[in-house]
Amino acid sequence: MNILERKNNIIKRLLFKKNITSNEAKFLLDKIDFDLKSYNNEKNKTLLVTGGAGFIGSNFIQYWLKKYPKDKIINLDKLTYAGNLENLKKIENNSNYKFIKGDICNRKLVNILMKHVNLVVNFAAETHVDRSVLSSEEFVRTNVEGTRNLLEAAKNNGNVRFHHISTDEVFGHLSLNDLAFTEKTAYDPRSPYSASKASSDHLVRAYYYTYKLPITISNCSNNYGPYQFPEKLIPLFVTNLIEGKKVPIYGNGQNIRDWIHVNDHNEGVDAVIHKGRIGETYCLGGGNELTNMQITMTILDEMGFGEEKIEYIKDRPGHDFRYAIDYSKAKNELGWKPKISFEQGIQNTIKWLINNQNWWRKIKSGKYQDYYKKNYSNK
Ligand SMILES: NC(=O)c1ccc[n+]([C@@H]2O[C@H](COP(=O)([O-])OP(=O)(O)OC[C@H]3O[C@@H](n4cnc5c(N)ncnc54)[C@H](O)[C@@H]3O)[C@@H](O)[C@H]2O)c1
Repeated sequence: MNILERKNNIIKRLLFKKNITSNEAKFLLDKIDFDLKSYNNEKNKTLLVTGGAGFIGSNFIQYWLKKYPKDKIINLDKLTYAGNLENLKKIENNSNYKFIKGDICNRKLVNILMKHVNLVVNFAAETHVDRSVLSSEEFVRTNVEGTRNLLEAAKNNGNVRFHHISTDEVFGHLSLNDLAFTEKTAYDPRSPYSASKASSDHLVRAYYYTYKLPITISNCSNNYGPYQFPEKLIPLFVTNLIEGKKVPIYGNGQNIRDWIHVNDHNEGVDAVIHKGRIGETYCLGGGNELTNMQITMTILDEMGFGEEKIEYIKDRPGHDFRYAIDYSKAKNELGWKPKISFEQGIQNTIKWLINNQNWWRKIKSGKYQDYYKKNYSNK
């Protein structure tokens, strides 16, 4: 079948897909051209990055295109409240990058895309624990059903290499004297968010054991850095202070998290993709265990404020006490370790938020969603 026939066939099929928008179809067809050109080029990859308009995914796409400029990336993102195409402004005109607005639960769309890629990196998820406490429905749909849908398509289209991004929250929580989580720690999720991520991890592993799908998983600790949605602790606190507001601390602020800069996380994902053993899980952590109070005092100090800016609020139900990651396996097998100290990372993040007020002010006011309408709806 020649290229034209193939394209016509796809157009015909698309015409009968009820749940693919015309924009998605157009992007799809543009993409197919570049895919066909590189179809037999084994050296360079075509990646399907899901959730690439979110915090970590958008940093990942920028990182990858800079490091592997000949690879091609299709970013499939539903643009929920957490997806923001302004995160990708710097690379939106790169000819090796395509954005498709779509849902990872859309079976037909995912199946078509899967025929044209040789690596999936699955970031797409509902991620905010507080939102999962209010309602778990979308968490199960996207995180469990969406991951299953991607796995099924990867299996049915030539066993596409699949890397799944997960969290340390699947392991439950620790007391002060417990040893840090490792790949061998039993799963014990305690929030609807972590339970849905745990389910997705189990499914990914099941597709390896049952169908030999070439998978890897990384479980990472709390990320921070540029483009993090300002409902999460660090950007919320910094932007509140810039706006002259107080910073809300849950309970007594003694909960402990292990913080990692998003660039270190993405370097870890790269290491797992290139050097990780198929079927294996790798824990990635920052080696920075800090209480929420320590983080708050660091931010207040860096920004020239004192404790008077703290507002104590009622604790989150089932609030996990401590997370900590032992990343020895990634260090020993992949030669990866985090490079950015918390001191350096937090200073850069505060600077970034001070210099990019337009970006977060639009989010806080809800205007960021206009960007998609303005820039993409007619393309
Ligand atoms: N943020 C952290 O500290 C952290 C730590 C460890 C692991 N993780 C994992 O990393 C991944 C990314 O996290 P993040 O903080 O960047 O999240 P995020 O909330 O900033 O971004 C999630 C992205 O997924 C998209 N999305 C949601 N539902 C979708 C669907 N059904 N179809 C297609 N796209 C959809 C959203 O539009 C958004 O762009 C998640 O899987 C999360 O569990 C996050």
